[in-house]
Amino acid sequence: MSTAEVANSALPAQTVAESTDIAVPEYAPRATSSEQERVEELRAQINRANYLYHALDAPEISDAAYDNLLKELRELEEHFPELVTADSPTQRVGSDVVTTFSELRHRIPMLSLDNAFSTGDLTAWEEKLRRTIGADAQFAVEYICELKIDGLSVSLTYENGRFVKGGTRGNGEVGEDITLNLRTIAALPMNLRPIEEANIAESGSAKSATVPALIEIRGEVFMSHREFQRINEESEEKTEEKGGGRTFANPRNAAAGSLRQKDPSITATRRLDVFLYAVGACEGWEFDSQYDLLRTYREWGLRTNPNIQVCANIAEVVAFCSEWETKKESLPYDIDGVVIKVNPFLLQRELGQVSRSPRWAIAYKYPALQVRTRVERIDIQVGRTGALTPVAILTPVAVAGVMVGRATLHNQDEIARKDVRVGDTVVVQRAGEVIPEIVEVVVSERTGTEEVFVMPTKCPSCGTAVTKPEGEAVTRCPNPICPAKVEQRLGHFVSRGAMDIEGIGDRHVEQLTQTGLVVDPADLYTLTLEQLLPLERMGEKLATKILDSIAGSKTRPLARLIFALGIRHIGEHSSEVLAAHFGTLEKLQAATVEELAAVFEIGRTTAESIGAYFAGPTAQAMLAKLKAAGVEPTSNTAAALSDELKGKTFVFTGTLTRMTREDAEALVKHMGGRASGSVSKQTSYVVAGDKAGSKLARAQELKVPALTEDEFLEMVAELRENAPT
Ligand code: IVH
Repeated sequence: MSTAEVANSALPAQTVAESTDIAVPEYAPRATSSEQERVEELRAQINRANYLYHALDAPEISDAAYDNLLKELRELEEHFPELVTADSPTQRVGSDVVTTFSELRHRIPMLSLDNAFSTGDLTAWEEKLRRTIGADAQFAVEYICELKIDGLSVSLTYENGRFVKGGTRGNGEVGEDITLNLRTIAALPMNLRPIEEANIAESGSAKSATVPALIEIRGEVFMSHREFQRINEESEEKTEEKGGGRTFANPRNAAAGSLRQKDPSITATRRLDVFLYAVGACEGWEFDSQYDLLRTYREWGLRTNPNIQVCANIAEVVAFCSEWETKKESLPYDIDGVVIKVNPFLLQRELGQVSRSPRWAIAYKYPALQVRTRVERIDIQVGRTGALTPVAILTPVAVAGVMVGRATLHNQDEIARKDVRVGDTVVVQRAGEVIPEIVEVVVSERTGTEEVFVMPTKCPSCGTAVTKPEGEAVTRCPNPICPAKVEQRLGHFVSRGAMDIEGIGDRHVEQLTQTGLVVDPADLYTLTLEQLLPLERMGEKLATKILDSIAGSKTRPLARLIFALGIRHIGEHSSEVLAAHFGTLEKLQAATVEELAAVFEIGRTTAESIGAYFAGPTAQAMLAKLKAAGVEPTSNTAAALSDELKGKTFVFTGTLTRMTREDAEALVKHMGGRASGSVSKQTSYVVAGDKAGSKLARAQELKVPALTEDEFLEMVAELRENAPT
């Protein structure tokens, strides 16, 4: 098909005379017919490029070539304003700033969907719809699954293929007219691309024109993760510069804010996107099925989501829903579920609707990752390093299927930045394994009774005056024997990744510190049966078990002891690095900050923190006590035995088939490398097993090389072969 054919030849060219918003000065020069032809040719080429790029995701020309076409067209139109048409690709951004949006009545109401939250809900829905149409067991109902895009629904009216107006859903009957803003969305064609006659004949149904006389096309406007990040970063910079900008809590809010902008030139700078998936009023066209609708939309140049599946039964629908529960993480935009529709329109019509929802469709919702709740109070937690952390105590809510009742507020600066007050309604989020956090305050829900939180000046545990060094965000309790600190330190010392002392739970940690039996973790090793027995709910059996496991921990590997000390900035990995490098606690203790900082993977801050820890009188006393009690850590056996992978960081993701993930990580460490749980620019390789999800996607984004399990093993074997013996 030539580009000229792509131009909407079926549509009468709307010229300036017909359009009221573009004025032509009287003195303008007149264009020759060849200039007019060139303008039309350019528009056709630009429209085709838009179609290939947005609808088919298969661009044929470069961005630069596209920009050149647009530039040439713009110049010609500037020169010959009489050639400007309202639907020209140059006319997307108007200059009118509106104060309010006018109402837009939908010809056919925009319905909403019933929700399903489980497989049971889906089967119940299917049973009901089968009953409604009187389908027996043999009658196959065909479904189509689509992703449920998390954006704003819009309705777009095209008359004879030309975009004339568009609005928000509003109350379903009447929405707001946001035509000018919608015009700025690059993925939305101003003209439907006429379908070739041959294709119409193929699709079976008789249609007289290549586009419908009138159609309300419905879909979802959304914002990609990348664009969301871009505008928030830009806005943050502005905030720093002039105290102006605001950031959005999630892509959906950003899309909503952008779509309802009073100034379309601002909307144009937010690269919104759209997927079309439904129809309202329609004259002069008929669709046989939802699948036919999507295919036709695509041919008209409308953007449709490619991740659809026609399903022969509800079991296939269930499989699609569970498949996308993990796959959704690697999409570049948010979805909040799957929409399941009965595919044949004949059946849809038969099923009809109940109140505001069709019987022929249902939304299968994934558990929400962001939920609203209320801040009941703000508590202070004293950590093992003495940091005072404000914690929001929330009215418990289920977030992504897990009850959440607390969220960290980090520090005073963070509370001030988010302006979280006691009594506020807030949006909380849980992403992956991350601790729940407050995303934003719903300011519109404020009643005026909310209370601003002030950080205490005294430690809530021991009453010592707290300190907050200039330029630091963290407030600390300086008292080395603050009971809260002692308790946290002891809890950390006995925990699984540290000295792994079985039998001592949170309750015992509390008892041991509150009774003063343990002031620092070294006191554990001098505990006696007589001291333990008087504790509440403590029998001889339990006490003996605790004492045995304490004794058993005396010979834990050195790395564990280093980690158990709870030195600031020292995690499990740094502990292993230090143990492998120094070999004994004495050598580590004797190292200078310079020597520490020279160790591979130990930064200056960490080195200084270690130096400060060992220089402190409390640490020295405790280490002497540990030694006297016979704590003799074994030197690290699992530490690097070779250094073929030195300086390399690996992330394993997905299911490995030839070894467990733990074994793979141990192998990397054994060869001097590092295994990490998250992908960053520092990652050297991502090893992707079966069903690798977001980590692999992140690796691709950051251009981190990805290996299969086999490739990884080959690489290891090769390195070993070439290693000097
Ligand atoms: S069909 C009558 N399909 O979900 C059927 N809706 O909870 C109309 N949505 O208001 C909706 N993706 O904003 C449909 N592929 C999709 C969708 C979708 C997102 C939204 C839409 C609708 C809401 C219903």
